Amino acid sequence: PSYREGLINLHAKARHEATEHQTNDDDDDAEGEGGGGGAGADPESLHLPDDSTRPSVLADRTEATRFKNVFAAPLQIDAEYRAPVHRKTDADAKFIHKALEGNFVFSNLGKAESETLVDAFEFCPKKIGEKIIVQGEVGDYFYVIQAGSVAFEVDGTEVGTAKAGGSFGELALLYDCPRAATCKATSDCQLWRVDQNTFRKILASATMKNDNEVRDILRKVPFLKDLDEKYLNKISEALSEMKYSKGEMVVRKGDEGNVFYIIKDGKVKVHDIEVGQSKYDDQVLTAGGYFGERAIVMKEKRVANITTIENCTLLCLSR
Ligand code: CMP
Repeated sequence: PSYREGLINLHAKARHEATEHQTNDDDDDAEGEGGGGGAGADPESLHLPDDSTRPSVLADRTEATRFKNVFAAPLQIDAEYRAPVHRKTDADAKFIHKALEGNFVFSNLGKAESETLVDAFEFCPKKIGEKIIVQGEVGDYFYVIQAGSVAFEVDGTEVGTAKAGGSFGELALLYDCPRAATCKATSDCQLWRVDQNTFRKILASATMKNDNEVRDILRKVPFLKDLDEKYLNKISEALSEMKYSKGEMVVRKGDEGNVFYIIKDGKVKVHDIEVGQSKYDDQVLTAGGYFGERAIVMKEKRVANITTIENCTLLCLSR
């Protein structure tokens, strides 16, 4: 899968882990829902229309029971909350702002919210070799790298690195799960960090505002439009929203994919479509259009290339 799909999957995994955890904790009041399997909803109560013309990810009812909350423990919007303010130069503020723009987690922040968030970052230098985050521990801070480099290790194996402009540590804060990786400074680092409370309070208010918008989009998808509010909510909570610029390839033919996409805004072109021995004409999809479901439902390779022909916001659902 592409770098983006890797990211989407990373988030889906953390979210899933968090809700599994929650489901186990909630067994007592589960209203007859299967606890151990981690199923959130009774599959039989999902009235999903059969869509015989296009196999959909949601036609599989057991799949549909897996849609979980984005925030393991939803935060109340707290109008009284005052985020801390740490003094920094305009150049530093700009740098942090730019780094946040590059992280899809923050794509829904309004101007005021992102200013509050940037203000709340405090400077936090680290020496080469220092562990900034330890896998398995409880989350406390989210980090932006201003200078230096950081390596990520899962179970002792390096899985990636990040440098100036990169950020890390969002998973445990967002989904209330243990740290998924150890993050080590591989050179002296200048980092900025923000605490979990501020991080989640600011993000939660942006997410809630966005939820209505997302549900309106989901209602445009033929096989979702008749779903109850309750299930639309579940799906909207399980989505990651990603921005793509014009001309980006979202899906590459032949790749193994495990992300399903719904277009929130923008247009994509589906090209070089080939299913079995048949080739099909190019197709343009717009808001409410969806793609990538075949690879998920039938576990087959991507059957077409999909490229944005405008800047796009896509709602991404991981298997
Ligand atoms: P978190 O789990 O809060 O803390 C460790 C961070 O490492 C994690 O958030 C991600 O931001 C980052 N990370 C980078 N690559 C990976 C990876 N492959 N698996 C898990 N975490 C990763």
